[in-house]
Amino acid sequence: MIQLRGTRFLRSLLLSLLCVLLVGGIGKAQEKSVLTVAVEPVFAPFEFRAPSGEIQGFDVDLIRAVGQAAGFGVEFRNITFDGIIPSLQAGTVDAAVAAMTITEARSQAVSFSRPYFRAGLAIAVRSGTQGIKTLDDLKGKSIAVHIGTTGATTAKGIPGAKIRTFDAAVLALQELRNGNVDAVIEDSPVTLYAIKTGSLKGIEVVGNLLTEEFYGIPLPLNSANLPRVNQGLTTILQNGTYAQIYQKWFAAQPPQLPDSAFANAQKTQTTPAGSLSVILNALPTLLKGTLITLQLAVVSVFLGLIGGSLIGVARLSAIKPVQWAARAYIDFFRGTPLLVQIFMIYFGLPPLFQAIGLSFTFDRFIAAIVALSCNSAAYVAEIVRGGIQSIETGQFEAAQSLGLNPVQTLRYVILPQAFRRMLPPLGNQFITLLKDTSLVAVIGFEELFRQGQLIQAENYRPFELYATVSLIYLALTLLSSQGFGFLERKMNPARRDKAKKV
Ligand code: ARG
Repeated sequence: MIQLRGTRFLRSLLLSLLCVLLVGGIGKAQEKSVLTVAVEPVFAPFEFRAPSGEIQGFDVDLIRAVGQAAGFGVEFRNITFDGIIPSLQAGTVDAAVAAMTITEARSQAVSFSRPYFRAGLAIAVRSGTQGIKTLDDLKGKSIAVHIGTTGATTAKGIPGAKIRTFDAAVLALQELRNGNVDAVIEDSPVTLYAIKTGSLKGIEVVGNLLTEEFYGIPLPLNSANLPRVNQGLTTILQNGTYAQIYQKWFAAQPPQLPDSAFANAQKTQTTPAGSLSVILNALPTLLKGTLITLQLAVVSVFLGLIGGSLIGVARLSAIKPVQWAARAYIDFFRGTPLLVQIFMIYFGLPPLFQAIGLSFTFDRFIAAIVALSCNSAAYVAEIVRGGIQSIETGQFEAAQSLGLNPVQTLRYVILPQAFRRMLPPLGNQFITLLKDTSLVAVIGFEELFRQGQLIQAENYRPFELYATVSLIYLALTLLSSQGFGFLERKMNPARRDKAKKV
């Protein structure tokens, strides 16, 4: 009886869940009472986390006030800046507050509210840097920018500039502080705020503002919520709430805002490019990235193989401290995420060395190779150890009785046999490494994945780009497993013996 009631309860629970989902789905087309709003909370003072973990900032206060004025609630969702427009296009969020500049290109992909903030780009340099004040001075210099921002677009227009793209404004500024680039182009209020609050030392903003930009709230194209958001904005601009929020975060009176971001508000509507032409246009750049991915993978696998073999043998050493050291190395590199290791090596080590008075910066390629090879060496070491241990002890004894010393035993008897057994896991390791190279995109490395991200940040065609990027990775991994399969067949003694017998 109890069981029966349980099933009935379960059934009605499922049914009501289905209803909620359905109603939720239908509700999408209509005006919602709570809007899901994307934020990237690493852009103080517009959106950032309080020490308590709560999201705060100018944009956060603003959208809450807009919601109050227009009668909707707000639920925040964390999304990286370059993911915001794709999420709006996919309809997974209803709006975003991200200090996003209203631009012509973006207006093709999303609908913007009326402007809510006046800002501009500024050049930041290390304090005391001479000779950089204008865009002209940046010719041929190295510049760090945040992916998909107006700062990145502006930097791209500077002749001869070497540009490094990072996932967040703070990472670009850190790159400047670590001495790896000459300048950062970023929204002036953000850099100024970081300097004022002391979270960024040794950096200064130089020259005049490079641009005048207006931030808007982006919504999906022609969203039903757009009129409400605009009406809410107009209300708070008129009733003084806007000025209050402005005063709170910038300790100043707000400047006058225009009704529209473009002076002669004629929006040129172009028809979107077809998928094939998006892919074909992106292909040359993606292939350039593929070349770098291959370079990274081949060099790291080579170094990882050498390092890993040494560590694998050390792991079997009779000398205890050597064994422990090898063990500790493997545990560390296998037990911590590669992504954290990359951040640690690239962003963490330079300040550490600088703190003890050594001027030390990392070339990105070297940093990427170091991280990937150190990580892969740990896995290779275990493969090598397993391979050697899989050889029967009789073989060691036989070699000894032939008068071979330990090194000769390893070289002529054990390793040739062990290597054949190590091949399949080594093949796996290579494929893993090939895919893991995509992680070094976080240090601004323009390999295959980052090239795709960069193009996507300009044309807002995530599906075509990431599908092409995946297919290229797939082609690379399929080719390498073919290669390893061939090697395995070649080294298979059973096959060779059969050939001899015939
Ligand atoms: N205003 C600049 C742009 O729209 C930078 C915005 C970056 N915003 C952020 N939440 N990280 O391109």
